[in-house]
This record gives sequence, structure tokens and C-alpha cells, in this order.
Amino acid sequence: MLNEIAAGEDIFLEEHDVIVSKTDLKGRILYVNETFRRISQFSEQELVGEPHSIIRHADMPRCIFKLLWQKLEADEEVFAYVKNRCKNGDYYWVFAHVTPSYDSTGKKVGYHSNRRVPPQDERGVIESLYRFLKDIEESYANKKEGMQAAYDILRGMLKEQGTSYDQFIFEFASFLSRETIDGFLNDYRPATHTISQTQNG
Ligand SMILES: Cc1cc2nc3c(=O)[nH]c(=O)nc-3n(C[C@H](O)[C@H](O)[C@H](O)COP(=O)(O)O)c2cc1C
Repeated sequence: MLNEIAAGEDIFLEEHDVIVSKTDLKGRILYVNETFRRISQFSEQELVGEPHSIIRHADMPRCIFKLLWQKLEADEEVFAYVKNRCKNGDYYWVFAHVTPSYDSTGKKVGYHSNRRVPPQDERGVIESLYRFLKDIEESYANKKEGMQAAYDILRGMLKEQGTSYDQFIFEFASFLSRETIDGFLNDYRPATHTISQTQNG
């Protein structure tokens, strides 16, 4: 499966690149702009009508998407770092702003995402955070349980710090170094949880 390709080249966006997509309420792609097609290497025909997970990269923790959908379903906007895959297995990091879209009667009809290049210094911090969450998810044989465990740890961590995911990104990621975040995350790593303990879970 293309999604399982772990290697690939890191594709950097230019400052002026804005990747845009619109979806229906289920996340099925309705529109992509030219920049989306150019960077993802997928054609319009390959994207429109497909679930947005067509560009999901295997390194992305599932719990981040759970957080994203919870906010969207609660009519909230979301800011998130996302690693996406290109058709040929290359990948690119984006800083995404995702919002619900409404028709003239105020009914929610879909979602809209604008993505830009993330600040380079924040990327290392986010990569550490996502690797930490992904490790937790993968230490469970059952994917749903793994996602829930990582999600609970993320929520607990943010609550203890008195922050939200968005706030974490805006206020913490810009001044934390990768070493600091690695040390910080270690404090939250489940001490007794090992793959062998959950093999049957
Ligand atoms: C407007 C919008 C934009 C999205 N953009 C992305 C994206 O760029 N990359 C991505 O992997 N998922 C994106 N998603 C989330 C996907 O719908 C999906 O939840 C995610 O890829 C995980 O899919 P999976 O649970 O089927 O593995 C977006 C969702 C919406 C509503």
C-alpha cells in the first residue's frame, strides 16, 4: 500500500505556497487548488471524490486526526501540523488551518483547509511530539486502543500544562528546542507499558 511507504524525500514548500482543499462533511475531497496538485503529485481526477486520507502519511499519529474531527464536529476551527505524503512516496510538512463551511442559511455543509509551510524551528518539536504519540499508538496491537491511549496522554499532558493543542503549537513549539521537548515528553511516557504486555489487546 502506498500509505505504508516510510522513506521518501522531504519536499519543502515555498513561503508563498498555499495548499487549499475543500471537503464535504465526511472529509471527501470536493476541491483542490493547483498548488495542492503540484505538491501532492496527484491529479484533480485522482483527488476529487476521494477521502482526504488519500494523502495521509503513515507517520501521522491517529490521535491528531481524532482531535481535528472532534473540533470540526463541534464547529470549531483547528490549527494543526500535518505530515502528508505525495503520490511517489515523498512527503511534505504543512501548518494547516481547517474550518467548517456554512451555506446561506447557516447550515454546515463541509470543511475548508489552507496550509502553509511550517516554521522550521517548530518542526523539530512537532516531529518529536508526533513520534512520541505514534510510539504509544504502535505499542498496542489494537489500533483503536492505541489511538485512545495516545489521545488520553496528549489530553492529560495539555491539561496539566494548562494549554490546548492550538495554544501548544502557537505558544510552546516556537521556543522549545527538540532536546527540551524530548525530555519533557519522557516524563509522560507510560513507564510500565510495553508491546509484550499488550500483544493480545
Ligand atoms: C478539510 C479537511 C482537510 C484535511 N486535510 C488532511 C490532510 O492534509 N492530510 C491528512 O492526512 N488528513 C487530512 N484530513 C483528515 C482526514 O479526513 C482523515 O481524518 C485523516 O487522513 C486520517 O484518516 P484515517 O483515519 O482514515 O486514517 C482533512 C480533513 C478535512 C475535513
